Amino acid sequence: MKKLGILVSGRGSNMLAIIDACEQGSLSASVEVVISNNGDSVALTLAKEKNIYVEHLSSCTHPDPDQLDVAMTELLTGCDVDYVLLAGFMKKIGPKTLAAYKSRIINIHPSLLPKFGGQGMFGINVHKAVIDAGEKETGVTIHLVDEEYDKGSILAQRTVAVAPDDTPETLAVKVLKVEHVLFAETIQKIIDNSIILPDH
Ligand code: GRF
Repeated sequence: MKKLGILVSGRGSNMLAIIDACEQGSLSASVEVVISNNGDSVALTLAKEKNIYVEHLSSCTHPDPDQLDVAMTELLTGCDVDYVLLAGFMKKIGPKTLAAYKSRIINIHPSLLPKFGGQGMFGINVHKAVIDAGEKETGVTIHLVDEEYDKGSILAQRTVAVAPDDTPETLAVKVLKVEHVLFAETIQKIIDNSIILPDH
């Protein structure tokens, strides 16, 4: 059984989808730890309610970025985590954590990368940009995390049609629905070796 660590910042709906998939057995993994850079995040409360071990790690708990990076690495390795999932995590991952989990940190992004990715492209901004560009389709990307925002190898994508009357808000709802399915499906494919990650 593979062990997961989930990093969150906000409401945690993708985190919950992963926890639910583990509970229901459609994802053969266990969530060992949920880490948030935001001690007040809804996601931390939801994870606690699921009896999952949670930690708040941020510049508040560790003002020195190097020490924060070490604390993150030690927490993940101490929990024996195999894969780190970023589920709406708003901070950059430190170099030590990246090295310890090379090719094993996986992010979900609400667009068809490389379109609508990079700095500033998060939340509703992504869907606004998609509509402003007149795109007929958007979607979800699951990708590996490296030093640059939204640039790591793409592991899975699924498209979502943009309707002529879609607003950023209606599109966000449609895309999120697909996120909740594709994230768990992709992690299961990694576990099954039907998606092969580069050597780490
Ligand atoms: C999702 O849209 C995800 O793709 C992006 O951040 C959002 C997080 O939502 N990286 P939630 O916290 O999982 O509800």
